[in-house]
Amino acid sequence: MEQIAKSNPRSKPKSKPVSKHRHKIALVGGGNIGGLLAQIACQKNMGDIVIFDINAKLAQGKALDIACSEPVENFNADLQGGSEPSMLNGADVVIVTAGLPRKPGMSRDDLVESNAKIVSSIAKHIAEQAPQAFVICITNPLDVMVGHLQRQANLEPQKIVGMAGVLDSARFRRFLADEIGVSTKDVSAFVLGGHGDTMLPLARYSSVAGIPLPEIVRMGWISQKKIDEIVERTRKGGAEVVNLMGTSAYFAPASAAIAMAQAYLKDQKRILPCAAYCQGQYGVDKLYLGVPALIGASGVEKIVEINLTDEEKILFHKSVEAVKNLNEILEKLISQNKV
Ligand code: APR
Repeated sequence: MEQIAKSNPRSKPKSKPVSKHRHKIALVGGGNIGGLLAQIACQKNMGDIVIFDINAKLAQGKALDIACSEPVENFNADLQGGSEPSMLNGADVVIVTAGLPRKPGMSRDDLVESNAKIVSSIAKHIAEQAPQAFVICITNPLDVMVGHLQRQANLEPQKIVGMAGVLDSARFRRFLADEIGVSTKDVSAFVLGGHGDTMLPLARYSSVAGIPLPEIVRMGWISQKKIDEIVERTRKGGAEVVNLMGTSAYFAPASAAIAMAQAYLKDQKRILPCAAYCQGQYGVDKLYLGVPALIGASGVEKIVEINLTDEEKILFHKSVEAVKNLNEILEKLISQNKV
């Protein structure tokens, strides 16, 4: 019979044998997003959870607090928090949020030096403790940090992705649904490119109940001008939240990463927009960038290439250039031993 582990947030967590019957999800960073990831993963009964943070008490406290909601919420999970790298041992999924969030007035790119240092430090732990895991990076600036983590930890490129597109397309869906006056469930939206102001929400590949958005405009449900405004709002959706809360968004980012983890753990073959390693797709080589990716038990099993108009190609390449430029800044920092 399967042995059911009891929730046990220890003050000094020990490395435990990994149960063959339960998934282990390691959260690297137990701040705003990390804490929510732990709570959602528990409530969805996704497996046992470890919260790893340099602030051991914060991680322990969150593990204990969430564990105490188990009797009320009726989930079943073993939760541990701490700052021992061995806690990551044998994790099936590792979700990385360690790093500084934005403050009002900052762009994601302003975080490159501080967060690259943090990512370098945790890459070692992932390489040593969970090299087979499916890794989802959330730390910003996203497209550059996911590539940095992949190289530093020497992970297979198809086993590590960045979470951004699911969040960006969710924002696009939310804003479109509100404007058109329909349920978000019936809106599907498509976003390409880097997780920044150059991202490309594509109205042409977005739809309401299967009806393409340009047709919805023709039917008079929404104007093209309104769609253009929503595209702009989606691009700046993160900054809108930062300006309201004084820190980066965390509810929707956590939900988005959980959907990606489930796609992998349950071999769902979902097509989710995420920062995936391009090897020639969309004319982009050896670079992490936001593209639609088929996610299943092998990680990124396929990158889906769609046709772009000449105008869309120009905007997409602007986004590629923005990511490449930031990568060059990172390379320079590495060569100066600053990260
Ligand atoms: N190892 C482990 N944890 C670390 C390390 C490290 N080297 N450095 C920082 N941390 C932890 C912090 O102690 C903090 O608890 O990372 C956590 C980050 O949490 P928050 O500051 O609350 O940030 P959060 O809102 O969760 O965002 C994290 O995701 O969306 C991005 O831009 C956002 O880069 C940011 C990241």
